[in-house]
Amino acid sequence: MLKLNHIIAGYGKAEVLHDINLEVKEGEVVALVGPNGAGKTTTIRCITGELSVTKGTILYKGKDITSLPPYKIVPLGIGCSPEGRNIFGNLSVYENLKMGGYLLKEKALYQEQLEWVYQLFPKLWDRRDQLAESLSGGEQQMLAIGRAVMTSPQLLLLDEPSLGLAPVVVDQIYEKIEEISQQGSSILLVEQNVRLALEISSRAYVMESGQIHLSGDSASLAKDSYVEETYLGVR
Ligand SMILES: Nc1ncnc2c1ncn2[C@@H]1O[C@H](COP(=O)(O)OP(=O)(O)OP(=O)(O)O)[C@@H](O)[C@H]1O
Ligand SMILES: [Mg+2]
Repeated sequence: MLKLNHIIAGYGKAEVLHDINLEVKEGEVVALVGPNGAGKTTTIRCITGELSVTKGTILYKGKDITSLPPYKIVPLGIGCSPEGRNIFGNLSVYENLKMGGYLLKEKALYQEQLEWVYQLFPKLWDRRDQLAESLSGGEQQMLAIGRAVMTSPQLLLLDEPSLGLAPVVVDQIYEKIEEISQQGSSILLVEQNVRLALEISSRAYVMESGQIHLSGDSASLAKDSYVEETYLGVR
């Protein structure tokens, strides 16, 4: 479904991603984990078109989408809940969701997605007229994911959905991510919480200093001694 081939990218003269190869197959949940500054968000930005790649190609359903601008990426069925959420604080919950769905030309599809988001996150329905800035951290994260779901994504990119949230809220969010996956979206999940990421995903990539250090099926990676020592705190 998504394939990154030998991606090199960075900011100005600083190269951040050095030859990244990564794949998400249809229906998969794939985790991308690694320490702060490894290049995870940079990888997401390359896929969404926010950042042009220096070298390499990105294929989506076999089509070359390398460095297409974001407004051309979203209609292809690639939705993103970005790091830091990036919701519009001075707009209501409903208005934020509406902006997510603005590319859905078909009214019926828009309505269907909106109902699905409210069903996923009933709290967003309860608070639909409330300003987004007045939501709690967990609710804001739900809104960011809900807004991405409004684009009716076949591929959903989630950048650190658990960041800054209490464990019980993290569990709720992850249940919803599983539900979204069961509805048929393929998911690329960026997480600092490696334990959680390996639980929910079928495959994972460990990124360090802009390179894929390890990859494989998540259950095996969770038992890998390097991963255990470095990321799971087992000795
Ligand atoms: N806009 C930018 N301009 C210059 N350098 C940047 C920019 N954004 C990120 N970087 C640098 O690129 C490197 C990778 O950053 P990135 O945000 O991709 O890391 P990350 O893996 O997402 O980390 P984190 O887990 O902290 O979110 C870092 O060294 C960072 O300082
Ligand atoms: Mg990041």
